[in-house]
Amino acid sequence: MNRRNFLQFLGISGASLANAEKAMAIMAKVPRQIIPNLFPSLEDKLTTVEGITSTILIRWGDKINETDKFGFNNDFIAFHPLSSDRGLLWVNHEYVNPLFIKGKERIKENIDLEKREVGGSIIEIQKVGTDWTMIKNSPYNRRLDANTEIPFAWNHPILGSKSAIGTMAGCAGGYTPWGTFLSCEENYDMYWGERNREGKKTAQSSLQWDKFYPLPPEHYGWVVEIEPLTGKSKKLVSLGRCAHECAAVTKSKNGKIVAYTGDDTNNEHLYKFISDSNDSLESGELFVANLEKGEWLSLNIDDQPILKKNFKNQTEIQIWTREAAKLVGATPLDRPEDIEFDPLTGNVLIALTNNKSKNNFHGSILKISETNNNPGSLTFTHETFLSGGKDAGFACPDNMVFDQMGNLWFTTDMSGDSIGKGPYEGFGNNALYVFLRSGLNKGRIIRVANAPIDAEFTGPCFSPDYKTLFLSVQHPGEQSSSIKNLTSHWPDGDIPKSCVITLQGPTLDKINSGKI
Ligand code: FEO
Ligand code: CA
Ligand code: CA
Repeated sequence: MNRRNFLQFLGISGASLANAEKAMAIMAKVPRQIIPNLFPSLEDKLTTVEGITSTILIRWGDKINETDKFGFNNDFIAFHPLSSDRGLLWVNHEYVNPLFIKGKERIKENIDLEKREVGGSIIEIQKVGTDWTMIKNSPYNRRLDANTEIPFAWNHPILGSKSAIGTMAGCAGGYTPWGTFLSCEENYDMYWGERNREGKKTAQSSLQWDKFYPLPPEHYGWVVEIEPLTGKSKKLVSLGRCAHECAAVTKSKNGKIVAYTGDDTNNEHLYKFISDSNDSLESGELFVANLEKGEWLSLNIDDQPILKKNFKNQTEIQIWTREAAKLVGATPLDRPEDIEFDPLTGNVLIALTNNKSKNNFHGSILKISETNNNPGSLTFTHETFLSGGKDAGFACPDNMVFDQMGNLWFTTDMSGDSIGKGPYEGFGNNALYVFLRSGLNKGRIIRVANAPIDAEFTGPCFSPDYKTLFLSVQHPGEQSSSIKNLTSHWPDGDIPKSCVITLQGPTLDKINSGKI
């Protein structure tokens, strides 16, 4: 179809046809800006696009005070400002690779060390000139780990207990309007295995912590809320229990708090919680998405006869959320990961990383438009916002963050054992990308940074002035078979270490001000 036929196909004719033809001819002649971009890389290096530099802020094992060290496998990052040049960072420590702690042997001594490596860190950082550094020994610096006692924010005990021992598996997270951090417990079965409602084991724990610490799996898989200044924490039973990837918080049109959270497992679901209040996530109603109907389905026992028939009380539903979701007709999804709100449209974006069980290798980003653009609505429409694949140049979208221009920065998570192979050939290592939303380059995707071998970038988080992007580099060298046979030596040429880095520079500033 030529240009004229195309315009006629669109129903444009006469004078408007002439004008539209002229406009299209002009647009065709305007060269799109040559924009900086990176080639995919399989090297054991962290590389960045021209005009952006990376600096390591903190490494695994760095002392944060006299008694605590920065934990393993850093993921989600949230920034809590204290002043224009000081702030607190919350950083999740998702899981351990025993090879790098004390050894793979599943003995109590090794597991006791591993328990100190997970959970999260709060560190105070300050900006001197343009560089951020940690304030070592700041009174705010602290760790939460697998030994921290954390109460359940719920009116009834969870399996007879009002608190859980520890938090771990914190993947992505969120930040509330009242300034608390949310850390989301994802693959808790790695530590504790899983069992069904009858108490029958349905999954073994790969790390076998349960061999020495027989804690109930039901005490994990929650969203944990943390106060930045005190480290005081609680597990939000209200948001249900699953492999929570993240919790993205906003407000409904009538001011109620709304939190979206995905269950990052093949064919699991997308949830939305609508709080009873405008300053708490402790009580309200949990819903699950049915995409075919465009409806949020209540998981309230009093609203759903099928739940009333199958569950004794609401607490059981909160613990066995996945089972309740399926009973009411939730849509199975392709591993819902991070969730962000599009500042240009108000839509909700959900990274669907992949679903190998359905031959979906490259993933996509789903867009949900709530009725009347109101997060409090119980109906919505949906469509694909971006698809991964060879044409797009990325595969397996995971963590996302918007900048002040509405550009979407996102990271990918191809698993270490599949990078560069089969459907992932040509994509290089995992990377950070930005999808441009305005100007001449609208719709283009820049590959901003390449991760070292086996690593994924996680936790992208802008400083309040958008001059710095904090980013986690997680699990470099994860495929190493032994300390003598390492796949990565990033960052120091020695054993690989997860780090938090900062990205800064003129290219970041230009993207952030719409000049690219
Ligand atoms: Fe921890 Fe779903 O990534
Ligand atoms: Ca993730
Ligand atoms: Ca992931």
